[in-house]
Amino acid sequence: MTAKLELVEVSKSFRSKQVLKKLSLEVEDGEFLVILGPSGMGKSTLLRSIVGIEPVDGGKVLVDGEDVTNRPANKRNIAMVFQNYALYPTMSVYKNIAFPLKMAGYTRDKIDKKVREIAETLKITEALSQNVTTLSGGQKQRVALARALVRDPKLFLLDEPLSNLDARVRYAARQELKTLQRELGHTFVYVTHDQAEAQTLADRVAVLHNGNIEQIGTYEDLYEHPGTEWLGDFLGDYPMNFINGSLVGKDGYNVGFRTNWISEGKAGLKSEVELCQATDVGYFVSCTIDGKPIVVQTSRKYKIGAEVKFSLERFNLYKDGKLEEGTTE
Ligand SMILES: Nc1ncnc2c1ncn2[C@@H]1O[C@H](COP(=O)(O)OP(=O)(O)OP(=O)(O)O)[C@@H](O)[C@H]1O
Ligand SMILES: [Mg+2]
Repeated sequence: MTAKLELVEVSKSFRSKQVLKKLSLEVEDGEFLVILGPSGMGKSTLLRSIVGIEPVDGGKVLVDGEDVTNRPANKRNIAMVFQNYALYPTMSVYKNIAFPLKMAGYTRDKIDKKVREIAETLKITEALSQNVTTLSGGQKQRVALARALVRDPKLFLLDEPLSNLDARVRYAARQELKTLQRELGHTFVYVTHDQAEAQTLADRVAVLHNGNIEQIGTYEDLYEHPGTEWLGDFLGDYPMNFINGSLVGKDGYNVGFRTNWISEGKAGLKSEVELCQATDVGYFVSCTIDGKPIVVQTSRKYKIGAEVKFSLERFNLYKDGKLEEGTTE
């Protein structure tokens, strides 16, 4: 079972603090949508509003075109995996997974069949009789996923489910999750502040900023054509560089360019190297141009204090913080 999700001008405040401001969003049936945003931006609040445990102040939540805004959480058929997993600590793995089915009034045989099936899919059959407190972080995460998936929900919401895992396990879990979503074909709304997760998991990424979706699209599109200077700064391992347009003959604009949108050694812009970091993909040189911090990717190593020269191969033009013209080469 899968579904399309639609949010129409959803607003939510806590006392005087407005967290969601008329936020609208459409998630396609079977899509893996990642909601990316800095800490405290309202990502969890958004998921809690969709699942129905946080009443909204205004706007609508539609699942397959049906208005569920005033429906209680247990009548929405939406499952959520919480960041801390929220497993029942006194119960076994089996009982944790069986719990939502028991609540829904399934027969014993049906419960047993479904629990074993999902345990097999998530490779936790061996742990079924174990108490959840004895599990590793990775296993707990699987149990939380199994418990959410077992009911065959229409929509599947995940709140930073991998953030408690160490880097190696997280990497493997990411791949498994992506495969699982493809196989099941479920609609996933996945919240994270981790850009690498957004990049590897998402069909589309929606970036949350100041209570609204700043931009939605593929990661590549957002990375290459951030619609605002804020997003260019936020997205990517390195912020987009911005310089005054008059430096390259584009008066009245801010010129934005990624670290590798340059041609090294050609005159045009020059500065003094402040730092040169070696990485797997070359060197990252930090310098200052017209009072702005700039980072460019180079193929050779520079000494601190040496001169670095480059010209721009491509750039985006921004006016009043907004993208006016896409990549110009
Ligand atoms: N129950 C609540 N009562 C009052 N304020 C709240 C409540 N829940 C969230 N907030 C506030 O709303 C804002 C958004 O919180 P939320 O937890 O949704 O952010 P987040 O993007 O999930 O952050 P993080 O990345 O740290 O998990 C924060 O300023 C938070 O303090
Ligand atoms: Mg959160």
